[in-house]
Amino acid sequence: MCGIVGYIGSETAAPIIVDGLRKLEYRGYDSAGVAIHDGGKIEVVRAMGKLRALDEALTHKPLEGTVGIGHTRWATHGRPSEENAHPHVAGGVAVVHNGIIENHTTLRHELQQKGVTFSSDTDTEIVAHLIAHALEDGAKTLIEATRTALQRVEGAYALAVLWDEHPDKIVAARHGSPLVVGFGEEAMLCGSDIPAVLSHTRDMIFLEDGDLAELSPGKCSIQTLKGNPVERPKKRIDWSPVMAEKGGYKHFMLKEIHEQPDAIAQTVLARVDLEHGDVFGEEIGLTPELATGCRRVYIVACGTSHHAGQIGRYWIEELAKVPCFIELGSETANRDTVFFEDDLLIAVSQSGETFDTIGAVKKAKAAGAKILAISNVMDSAIPRMSHGSLYTRAGPEIGVASTKCFTAQLAALLLVAVYLGRRRDTLTAEHAGEILQALTEVPAQMNELLDDRDYVRSVAMQMTHATDVLFLGRGYSFPIALEGALKLKEISYIHAEGYAAGEMKHGPIALIDEGLPVVILCPKDDSYDKTLGNLNEVRARDGQVIAIATKGDEAMHDVAHHILWMPEAHPLTLPMLTVVPLQLLSYYVASKKGLDVDQPRNLAKTVTVE
Ligand code: F6R
Repeated sequence: MCGIVGYIGSETAAPIIVDGLRKLEYRGYDSAGVAIHDGGKIEVVRAMGKLRALDEALTHKPLEGTVGIGHTRWATHGRPSEENAHPHVAGGVAVVHNGIIENHTTLRHELQQKGVTFSSDTDTEIVAHLIAHALEDGAKTLIEATRTALQRVEGAYALAVLWDEHPDKIVAARHGSPLVVGFGEEAMLCGSDIPAVLSHTRDMIFLEDGDLAELSPGKCSIQTLKGNPVERPKKRIDWSPVMAEKGGYKHFMLKEIHEQPDAIAQTVLARVDLEHGDVFGEEIGLTPELATGCRRVYIVACGTSHHAGQIGRYWIEELAKVPCFIELGSETANRDTVFFEDDLLIAVSQSGETFDTIGAVKKAKAAGAKILAISNVMDSAIPRMSHGSLYTRAGPEIGVASTKCFTAQLAALLLVAVYLGRRRDTLTAEHAGEILQALTEVPAQMNELLDDRDYVRSVAMQMTHATDVLFLGRGYSFPIALEGALKLKEISYIHAEGYAAGEMKHGPIALIDEGLPVVILCPKDDSYDKTLGNLNEVRARDGQVIAIATKGDEAMHDVAHHILWMPEAHPLTLPMLTVVPLQLLSYYVASKKGLDVDQPRNLAKTVTVE
């Protein structure tokens, strides 16, 4: 996830900016750069790779000047490279940007027709050109030109802008991506996250969507996109630097659980056409030929990504009516799996580097199958081996236990299922529109769930002494039961099993007694009546029932010991929601046990061995 830092004051800006960027390193990045105004002109230094490469470039070309902006880039549009690194400059205007410009193709085309040539593949460079054009067309100040440019832009952004002609100003703007303004001594700072400015000030303003701020030494004035002045309250932040990295949360995992609404929104952004009930194929790495030319779909993945793939399989069969198989990377790679040329293999891997999944991809590719990668890391091994790539835009996940990457993978897989259904004529535009609309509502529903975390914590407090926990679910809730069990076992070291609720009577029912907590996913969906039957069977054997149920389901009070409530939601988007209380439950159990939640024993974030 990209990072922004800006500084205007009396000290040399470059080291302050690079230091701020270093505080954002935990977000992950592939390149970095700074633009410094030396009083006469703007000079830019950029480098591929880690900040030490930028440090080295700055020793070869030291930048003087007390005003500047800097950026760490996590590639979304255009591969990681020095040319695509920010800042981008056009007509004396330098821009750094976080977020995604949705209408970048239209704007790029329009600018090209006016004779603009681009030096990068990024959507950000478009903003620099739009601001430069607004200045040429008569805008008097940088903030006025930025406002004019942003009125053309759709999507999410946080921006910091410098202009040759204004050595004493930085303009910062926010819409959909966070940006804070910090009040230093005789200096102003801006940053995409609190740690970027925390060593210089604890007094900050959090810009709101649609705000533009003009920063000069010791002064900040804010206006809206329409040019109306606004005041935003100044807040004092008492976080320690370590707390700041974790956004004030105790662990990265908890922070990442709370980042899920944003991860889903970013993954869906600019990829769906709600009006025509469709998904843009080029945005998700698919073509109509791939969608209609495949006779079966094969999903391979490991661990949590495999659980996402299981739900993807159900969606693909339901919406695109094409046979879809799912297998573990390790199993596919190590047996005589049969692939055909007209297979579409979807490899789901947040890291894009998992050895076992790579093995499966190699096998399918050798047989001539077409490969679609779903990954969170641009240009990682699996996308590089694939015919098309669909990137989840969850930002770096630091906690070893995957949370936001899982739900972002689900959003990505639902986009694939809708696209396949539309191209294969098994899904009407109206039905697809309904599903996509429901997908855009997930972030708000997730926020509602996250607001109930205190109740989940109180339930978790009663599970800390459990030695075994059973998770049950049917249909779309079955893979979520598996995921709930995996989360609990990997971070709390409590033995947990996920089972299809319908399988309970074929064995696991023997385990049930008054000492066994049983988490049952029983939202109001097509499987509700059957799952309720299983719940009653558990209750009849004195199991401790923790139900995940839909708000308003009064019958639950009579049968469950604890109820974790879901908002009402579309049946197809439910898995993205039902998993959230399960993530919280495992988190609170492990945290209460004092375990190393972010780095559980024996586990690695990326498994590059067999
Ligand atoms: C569990 C977890 C792992 C990964 C698995 C695959 O919380 O994170 O099970 O899902 O190691 O990793 P990726 O998705 O990187 O291929």
